[in-house]
Amino acid sequence: MRQISLGAVLAGLVAAILAILLPATLAVGQDATAVAEGEKLAFDRTKGNCLACHMIDGGDLAGNIGPPLLSMQQRFPDRAQLRAQIWDSTVKNPQTLMPPFGRNRILSEDEIDRIVDFLYTL
Ligand code: HEC
Repeated sequence: MRQISLGAVLAGLVAAILAILLPATLAVGQDATAVAEGEKLAFDRTKGNCLACHMIDGGDLAGNIGPPLLSMQQRFPDRAQLRAQIWDSTVKNPQTLMPPFGRNRILSEDEIDRIVDFLYTL
């Protein structure tokens, strides 16, 4: 019988495990960047400033003019609907205090997408 060295077997195993894990890690890495960016934009007083009115996990000095942003994926299974609320909140409620971030160009389209990525982790 041919002898296979333990080293070769181990090297093969490590390579196989890396081949499986690496793409997954990279994908998670990209998502994590988008989510971190979204959190920064949401909390930034000169950008989303969402904390002025909404309680959000991880944010300080939150206001309570709007509802707490919790369980977002369960409550907004349709991502487009959540995005629309941020893009122009006045469509759903013309009297709302929430600024129409997209329509008034307070946030760019990309910035709104990053914030939605972040909200979906709540
Ligand atoms: C000046 C206050 C104010 C700011 C700033 C604000 N909102 Fe709101 N938001 C509200 C109010 C009030 C509501 C309640 C619904 C309404 O008025 O139509 C609301 C509703 C929402 C809803 C629907 C929540 C639900 O449970 O139905 C989401 C999602 C939301 N806001 C996200 C955001 C995000 C994200 C930001 C930051 C980019 C933000 N809001 C900034 C006041 C604000």
